[in-house]
Order: sequence, then C-alpha cells, then structure tokens
Amino acid sequence: MDNYNSVNTEKIRKNLKTKDRLILSMDVPNKNEVLSILRELENSISTVKIGLELIYNEGTKIIDTVIDCGYKVLLDAKLMDIPNTIAGALKGISKLGVSMITMHTFGGSGMMTRAKEELLQISSKNGVMSPLLFGVTVLTSLDDSDLNAFGFKTDYASIVKNLARTAIESKIDGIICSPNEVSVLRESFGNDFLIATPGIRLPEDDAGDQKRYNTPEKAIDDGADFIIVGRSIIKSKNKIGTVSNYLERMERR
Ligand code: C5P
Repeated sequence: MDNYNSVNTEKIRKNLKTKDRLILSMDVPNKNEVLSILRELENSISTVKIGLELIYNEGTKIIDTVIDCGYKVLLDAKLMDIPNTIAGALKGISKLGVSMITMHTFGGSGMMTRAKEELLQISSKNGVMSPLLFGVTVLTSLDDSDLNAFGFKTDYASIVKNLARTAIESKIDGIICSPNEVSVLRESFGNDFLIATPGIRLPEDDAGDQKRYNTPEKAIDDGADFIIVGRSIIKSKNKIGTVSNYLERMERR
C-alpha cells in the first residue's frame, strides 16, 4: 500500500488491496502478546490499530515495535479537547510515524478543522505524507437508550449522520461508524471520504460489549473502505485462519 495522500480519497481507495482493508485492533496489554500475534499473522494484513489499552500499558514505544515488524499503525487516540490542546498533541503524535489517527467528532468542527490544518502543516514542513484523520461518531457500544439518557431526542442514526456531516465539512479524511450506518452515510454524503467500521462480528462470534455490530460482508457491501476487527481475531485459537476467513469473505464481495 502506498503511503496515504490526505487529499485524494479516490486514489487511496483504488490502491487498497483486501489485506489493507482489514485492520486488526490490537487490544492486548503487553508487548509479548503483540509480538506473538504479529508473528502468527506473518504480515497477512497491513495495518494494526493501537489504542488506549496498549498505549497506557506499554507507552508509545510499542508503535515502533509494530512498525519494525512491517505494519502500518492506526493510532486510535480518540482525541477530544479544545482546538489548541489538540493541535499541541498532534505535534507530538506526528513524531510517532503513524498512518492514521482517530479523534471524537463530538469535539466539534473547530477542533477537527484545526487538527487537519495542523497535520497538513507539519507534514508539508517535514516533506512527508500526512496521516489520515478519522472522526469517531457514536461509539459502537452505545445505542438509542444510552443516547436518550444523554438527552438526545433522535435515534443514533441521525446523530451519526449529523456528526459525520460536521466531520466531512471540517475536511478530515474519514469517519468511524458501525457497519449499520455505512449505507446511510454513503447515500447522504457520497464517496469523497473514507469509512472505517469497528463493531464487526462473524455470525458465530459473541457481541461482547458492542451494541451496533454486523458482519464484514454488510460493511463492505454498504461501502466501508476499512473494517476494524479486534476480539473476533485476537480471541480466536487459530488467528491466521480467522484472518484468512475475513479476507476471503471480503474478497468474495
Ligand atoms: O473487539 P472488537 O472488534 O469489538 O474491537 C473494536 C475496537 O474498535 C476496539 O478497539 C474499540 O476501541 C474500537 N472502536 C469501537 N467503536 C468505535 C470506535 C472504535 O469499538 N466507535
């Protein structure tokens, strides 16, 4: 996979192979487990998502470990703060060599616009491609009853849609949503932005804490560019077999 060009979604999409579209969510607490999983996977996929569990247990040096094993990194930082603080954080994150970064769209348009500008400025100063910036809409562990408890009067799909619109207008590169909202986002906003979906399960998997989940086929058919899969692979006894199963299911669409 070529390095990302943050302004040309169509070009990114055209260059994606199936192995680039399956992102493993590395939700484990330590480096040994990371290395053992990566050894087993033998670079059958391109990108690993590193999130709060691994960063707070191992520190950011775990990113180098994963990159040294030949993988790209999606840093699931889930940033949300005032624009100035986020811009400062991104100065540090830009030194880590990650390819994708997440932030919460709930941080608002000012935060997202400033974040994207900051990344573009840093990458042009350093002569490197900018990491792609993805906005998390509504966590896939929340449903209508959670949102109603916060005082939202509409259903989650409308909230996801409004948050996605704000993110797209703020010119960030992609949206994170559940597989169940991909079709509504594509119908409403077209194809000029990327979509990555967590909340992916095979028919035989447990949902766990996810409330808005669906199959890889549903996500891909509806227009997701990337699927993010954690426990379905991590907890599987034959991880490489499960990855192959995912890749075949995606390939067949
Ligand atoms: O194990 P599972 O496949 O459910 O993991 C999903 C991963 O995606 C977790 O690392 C979680 O933090 C992340 N995620 C999510 N919902 C979002 C954004 C990220 O589940 N809206």
